[in-house]
Amino acid sequence: MQWLVTGGAGFIGTSFIRLALASRPNLSIVNLDNLTYAGHRQNLSDLEGGGRYQFLQGDICDPSQVECAVALAGGRPAAIVNIAAESHVDRSIASASECVRTNVLGTQVLLDAARTCSASRFLQVSTDEVYGSLGPTGSFHERSPLAPNSPYAASKAAAEMLVRAAVHTHGVPAIITRGSNNYGPFQMPEKLIPLAISNAEADQPIPLYGTGANIRNWIYVEDHCRGIMAALERGQPGEVYNLGGPDEIENRALLARILSLLGKPASLIRPVPDRPGHDFRYSLDSTRAHAELGWTPEVALAEGLARTIAWYRAHPAWTTQARDSHFTTYYRAQYPTLHSEAVPR
Ligand code: NAD
Ligand code: TYD
Repeated sequence: MQWLVTGGAGFIGTSFIRLALASRPNLSIVNLDNLTYAGHRQNLSDLEGGGRYQFLQGDICDPSQVECAVALAGGRPAAIVNIAAESHVDRSIASASECVRTNVLGTQVLLDAARTCSASRFLQVSTDEVYGSLGPTGSFHERSPLAPNSPYAASKAAAEMLVRAAVHTHGVPAIITRGSNNYGPFQMPEKLIPLAISNAEADQPIPLYGTGANIRNWIYVEDHCRGIMAALERGQPGEVYNLGGPDEIENRALLARILSLLGKPASLIRPVPDRPGHDFRYSLDSTRAHAELGWTPEVALAEGLARTIAWYRAHPAWTTQARDSHFTTYYRAQYPTLHSEAVPR
């Protein structure tokens, strides 16, 4: 059995491919990834040459490169799993065009390929951010209206609409998963948790947007990947499945916990101007995934944070290369009020 996975050199893609190959002995995977700043081929280099994993550098927006990937996956892959995306809200606020190109156009190119090659399944990895923001109570379920607030969230919602249209019009057997905020190994240090860990380890300030009262629903990346597998293998085409983590926490409390686990002072937390349009709270009701897919997240935040910190401590070279000169340029532009303080490397 062959699958085509896109974006496998990124954070979730890396974890997904490892999990899929480890748990399905007859599976082989082609990973199509164009290696943006967020893609790291070396994340999976130990799998190359083993006969079950092939890496192809290519752009999901380019139909001929997608065609090559489909051919490499045997011409009619049992599944196309679209994980590739421009995934960072702050970058999409600074400039939306790359986000729209990859997340919207790229999804349509892949849907066209799925139709042409008659792939048995198409899975679109989406996000809870398509629902917009919640107040202090309640949770989103799959029939909640979509009300995306950031360019990133809007591009993911647009991609979902294209998936829906492909199912309805062309009968593409596509499934959508909406995951909550992921954390774990291999996450780019532009996102809150790895940014906090790597800055704190270098005794550098950690930027906290606004009051820090915003709440996120955190899921350990392996739990999310098990949910994607469950939806792919047991989900119904045309359906949507929420994959929410077990814990919700305010950003300021999360940072305090991380610093305590690292043995660093809370004085490293530095309030900075709020993100424009900052969603207050996300929370997913995952009852459907529990009932219909038999999926449930297993890793609580306390355990997941301990594992994540251990991984970053064991892989300082990975973080150093992720925080390259391009990252430094991004960091300085994103956090101008931290300018006077050293840029952590
Ligand atoms: P990431 O930024 O770590 O990785 C994205 C990967 O996609 C990179 O390897 C990059 O090189 C690749 N890529 C980008 N543009 C491409 C293109 N045009 N062609 C081919 N490859 C391209 O992202 P992530 O955090 O691993 O997120 C993966 C997916 O999961 C995304 O679709 C995202 O919307 C979704 N998601 C993420 C989270 C989260 O908390 N990180 C939560 C829910 C859903
Ligand atoms: P992030 O990791 O960017 O994920 P998302 O925007 O997809 O939720 O941000 C998580 C939360 O942390 C979000 O409420 C914004 C906040 N945040 C900060 O307070 N400071 C930061 O430097 C970053 C990157 C995020």
